[in-house]
Amino acid sequence: MSAKQRPQRPHLLVTRKLPPPVEERAAQGYEVRLNADDRPFTADDWRERSQGAAAILCTPTDRLTAAIIDELPRSVRIIATFSVGFEHIDLAAAAARDIVVTNTPDVLTDATADIAMLLLLGAARRAAEGEALMRRRAWPGWAPTQLLGTDLGGKTLGIVGFGRIGQAVARRAVAFGMRVHYLSRNWRDLPGVDTRHHATETTFWPACQFVSLHLPLNAATCHYLNATRIARLPRGAIVVNTARGDIVDDDALLEGLATGHLGAAGLDVYSNEPEFRREYAELPNTFLLPHLGSATLETRCAMGFRALDNLDQFFADGMPRDAVTLTKA
Ligand code: DGY
Repeated sequence: MSAKQRPQRPHLLVTRKLPPPVEERAAQGYEVRLNADDRPFTADDWRERSQGAAAILCTPTDRLTAAIIDELPRSVRIIATFSVGFEHIDLAAAAARDIVVTNTPDVLTDATADIAMLLLLGAARRAAEGEALMRRRAWPGWAPTQLLGTDLGGKTLGIVGFGRIGQAVARRAVAFGMRVHYLSRNWRDLPGVDTRHHATETTFWPACQFVSLHLPLNAATCHYLNATRIARLPRGAIVVNTARGDIVDDDALLEGLATGHLGAAGLDVYSNEPEFRREYAELPNTFLLPHLGSATLETRCAMGFRALDNLDQFFADGMPRDAVTLTKA
């Protein structure tokens, strides 16, 4: 087929460097504009690089505010985010411009649940303190009372947000011998997994020796884990967060950790990333990771392919499977 006969492929703007197999597939289906040096876009970049694009493949580091979306050229018809979370995209502004938004659910569930377990273990077993000792070459040798943590087995894990990832954490936690409680308006059957449902917070928080947060970030969940809820946790409780940093009120969490009301925290996400509160790094009872929830090669490829599947479906029949709407937020 000559270049003249070949149907015009849609122009796709990719905002960050993606795993090579994803970029290769993108280049097969689209006139693709990659971001080889992986520098996050400025407002000027958005204006310049989006010219003529029909589709944008973005990531959670791109803040697609109403101002940015309003300035996108009329050619843009779809924004596919390389993430399950989509709080970084102003859905109302996209809807006002008839721009479809899609996300990548399912494919990062297991990787994120694994990181939640890593945080639970790292926080409970004082992994950061132990690792720091080794890196400083300051380990004096085994001792019966050295760096004593706490077991996961036999403890209660409270899961807030019992969707795909929360349920995957429940399955793993039960395998570690934990008793899983979850807070949710509705009871959910998890076949083969023994869980206890709490419809109200009154009974939930006092039961949680560990808490794992799995809420989507929106206006209702911003600073959800606040001083009041932390105060209801039993002394020594351990909190982990793989969802979004803004779900937690940092002042309240830091206060709980500093006073000893909370035993430890394991965090993978932070308000205003890549910034995070300096105090987290200064406290001994924190285990901190740099937003690694979905960071395996397999998962990041699966996320990229899922985003491309959504784009392909959109350009084939206008019906991408993972369209997100205002009501889903
Ligand atoms: C997501 O997909 O929302 C994750 O935070 C990326 O790791």
